[in-house]
Amino acid sequence: MPDAAPGRADLIERLVSLCKQRGFVFPSSEIYGGINAVYDYGPLGVRLRRNIRRRWWRAMVDLRDDVEGIETAVLMNPEVWVASGHVQSFSDPLVDCTGKCRKRWREDHLADERRARGRPPDAPGCPECGGALTPARQFNLMFKTFVGPVEEDAAQVWLRPETAQGMFVNFANVVNSTRRRIPFGIAQIGKGFRNEISPGNFIFRLREFELMEMEWFCKPGSDREWHEYWCAERMRWHVEDLGVRAANLRLRAHEKDELSHYSTATSDIEYRFPFGWGELEGIADRTDFDLDTHMKHSGRDLSYFDTATNERYVPYVVEPALGLDRVMITLLVDGYDEEDVRGETRVVLRLHPDVAPVQVAILPLSKKAELCEPARAIEHGLRSRFATEYDETQSIGRRYRRQDEIGTPLAVTFDFESLNDHAVTIRERDGMSQVRVGVDSLAEALGDQLTASRSRAAQRVSGANPVDQLRGGD
Ligand code: GAP
Repeated sequence: MPDAAPGRADLIERLVSLCKQRGFVFPSSEIYGGINAVYDYGPLGVRLRRNIRRRWWRAMVDLRDDVEGIETAVLMNPEVWVASGHVQSFSDPLVDCTGKCRKRWREDHLADERRARGRPPDAPGCPECGGALTPARQFNLMFKTFVGPVEEDAAQVWLRPETAQGMFVNFANVVNSTRRRIPFGIAQIGKGFRNEISPGNFIFRLREFELMEMEWFCKPGSDREWHEYWCAERMRWHVEDLGVRAANLRLRAHEKDELSHYSTATSDIEYRFPFGWGELEGIADRTDFDLDTHMKHSGRDLSYFDTATNERYVPYVVEPALGLDRVMITLLVDGYDEEDVRGETRVVLRLHPDVAPVQVAILPLSKKAELCEPARAIEHGLRSRFATEYDETQSIGRRYRRQDEIGTPLAVTFDFESLNDHAVTIRERDGMSQVRVGVDSLAEALGDQLTASRSRAAQRVSGANPVDQLRGGD
């Protein structure tokens, strides 16, 4: 993953520390020393993730009239994974260091690992110690477990590495229960598990993670056109719905030797992370591979009768697949900013107002009851409209600093003057501008300011915009 974002080498370390300190991300089972590549999400992390999920579901299901939602189980009949090709082919090439460090590596990541350690990418041997490496062998990424009390081969199942198969095996159930006509999609959000050989970069590559996937069923022959459509639509979503800076995104088509066993064409939406360009979302043309293989293995007919053309066919599938944890690290990296304010460094997380864990913070100027009580009442009154937080601890300066660090777009301060003029101060995160508004019109003023903040996020779209490039613009 060469070509890292310039000047941001230690950004991930800063984010790890901010996320722990402020309650976004904690190492899993930390009091026992943690477990590699597994994380827990704290109070603010949960709010951020729920907002991202909501944005995805809104764009992919709620605002469309051609996509149905579904939730399928993590454990599936093991035949699913034999049929899907995952038992045979869902593996990465693994090499071992026979030198000093004895580390394991993904063979296809060796060049990046060397680069990350300041070695030439084509240097021979182990990226860490330079020792000789074993020949590559294939390592299957699926976690195994057992169903029932006996640990024997007959009881062995896998934890799903993707949610997609749950949608393929339910294709006929969804068609029959909803009378959907092709083209249409099935979407789901859920956990996936992969025993990654070289996880890392904080929450970028995990062993337990969450997927947001949609299988778009279409007529054979129309798949390439739909693939283009979904590449443009998904790029639009990252930029316009989440406010990711367009200049940090690109669309990259897979080379033939990179394609998954089920795909004839895949394009990745990549983000420019501090450690280089990395996959954010994959949009794959899966053809009829999955439905066809499930028909053969299960003996069930999963073909579709097109009443418009009187044809029977096995639909082709285009799949946009996105990791929730990847979106989260993208938003943290993209939003993180440090600026000098009167000789002090201000850390700001410039999150889009619709994903920010807190939209409006209500802060009484001091801990005096005469300020806290009305401020608390104002916060209660705003709860049904905005994601709010009430905070009366520490000095006002430190509370502003905390709200900036967690990405809160607006802070409302109730001061001694408020007792007389029934007005409060709204402070805006990005420009730190302040306006005084009456308590009676506060909700409306906050709504207007959030709208303005949305437009500012949208303005970051202009310039070298990959959405326009996809549409054939500049
Ligand atoms: N059903 C297709 C599929 O699973 P993928 O490219 O292997 O495709 C889809 O995964 C998305 O899931 C990726 O683009 C990435 O956002 C996320 N993802 C994949 N492996 C991950 C991991 N180990 N940790 C976190 N996110 C991961």
